[in-house]
Amino acid sequence: MDTMTFVLFGGTGDLAKRKIYPALYNLFLEEKMPSTFSIIGLGRNESTDKDFQESVENSIRTFSRRLSDNGSKIEQFLTTIRYSKLDARNKEDYQRLLQLVKDREEELNIPENRLFYLSVAPEFFDVIALNIKESGLGTTNGWKRLIIEKPFGQDLKSARLLNQNLNNAFKEDEIYRIDHYLGKPMVRNLEALKFENPVFQALWSNRSIANVQITASETVGVEQRAGYYDQAGAIRDMFQNHMLQLLMMTAMHAPKQKDANEIRAEKRKVLEALRPLNKDEVGKNLVRGQYEAGLVNNKNVPGYRDEPGVRKDSQTDTFIAARLWIDNQDWAGVPFYIRTGKKMPEKSTRIVVEFKRNHNDIYLNKDPNLLVIEINPNESVSLILNSKNPVNGELEPINADYASSQLDVPDGYELLIYDAIRGDSRFFAHWNEVELSWKWVQPILEAFDEEQIPLHGYTAGSNGPDAANRLLEEDGFSWWLDK
Ligand code: BG6
Repeated sequence: MDTMTFVLFGGTGDLAKRKIYPALYNLFLEEKMPSTFSIIGLGRNESTDKDFQESVENSIRTFSRRLSDNGSKIEQFLTTIRYSKLDARNKEDYQRLLQLVKDREEELNIPENRLFYLSVAPEFFDVIALNIKESGLGTTNGWKRLIIEKPFGQDLKSARLLNQNLNNAFKEDEIYRIDHYLGKPMVRNLEALKFENPVFQALWSNRSIANVQITASETVGVEQRAGYYDQAGAIRDMFQNHMLQLLMMTAMHAPKQKDANEIRAEKRKVLEALRPLNKDEVGKNLVRGQYEAGLVNNKNVPGYRDEPGVRKDSQTDTFIAARLWIDNQDWAGVPFYIRTGKKMPEKSTRIVVEFKRNHNDIYLNKDPNLLVIEINPNESVSLILNSKNPVNGELEPINADYASSQLDVPDGYELLIYDAIRGDSRFFAHWNEVELSWKWVQPILEAFDEEQIPLHGYTAGSNGPDAANRLLEEDGFSWWLDK
């Protein structure tokens, strides 16, 4: 693996503390970091290297899934870290940073391989990318890569503009767009489940599948993020990115090769075949909701509009359920129901595949077979089959299941950062996917803005508005496994 410099913008922020330093440290413990590397954290305040290293140590001790037996590994890791003060718009700060990067490269004999991670507010993405270019930081003899995380724009137009700006400084194959759902081990496992098992490969199409249900429910509400969330809503926060990624990963065909280009090409085909929703069809296929006061985990919680920082007349959705159709040979006629919401009864991200019943006069297939893939917070795969009860001889559903027993599952950020260091972009969102997702979502945003789609209230702690149930009932189905 190439030796390199990891430059972290937003190095004193929350994500850095909770996820990025612990991820780097765990990779280091597992000897998955290059033999030599340098980490440079950037923040707006003055700090010495020593103070900064101490704060990194704190975050590792608080958030890392593993620590070493004695302190020596942490000590060793901390010696790789330096700090530099940086205001994203101040050109001189970039010159100082460039000098520091070069000094460390020389000191450690590291070629000019530079990984820039922008863990900052989205309005700084293009400012920083441009300054990386103009300062000379982006002119290297080795490789350079940029990691950014959503939101990539607020709509199709702003996403395109952002991308153009990024492309002035980085080429597409140098940009690693994190969708942290692609870091989840069970999402990465979908490929194996579908394509390494001939039994599922044979069944994975409209010949055998009646419908697919993808749910990401959360018990949390808007928390302290009203400033962002009230502008975004569930449609931008979860649906346009994580949910459509789950759809792509579920419905994509086997790639010709297991490489990033082929995998991303197959994912793109899913979005290209996704039936566009015209504005006047949004209401028939999509339900939006906002939570009202209720009971979650036996605790009374306020309604969305009474959350701190939320407008009293907010029309923002905290719940979306939609019916999608993929118009290709394999999926024609199979509805994909996708649902996500806050303040629901449980935290659960899961994919439920409902198989067709084989009606005939003798075997009635009372209950359908289901394949249930739990992604988050528990990881499991189960297959629900019909079986005869040995005592009374009655048919009953039984569960053939596997649950991950490994407590020490790596965090998604660990897997994603490891990929980016190695230049493996399979589990990052390509611009084509991002653009096609926004394109599909755009009429929905417009229909919302024009207030064409009713905003249903739902009681906190429920599974969303009743209209979300009716969406499936229209097709003769219902949501599986709701609490
Ligand atoms: C984030 C959203 O991208 O994903 C949050 O901004 C949401 O609103 C979170 O809570 C859910 O992620 P996870 O990994 O907990 O399912």
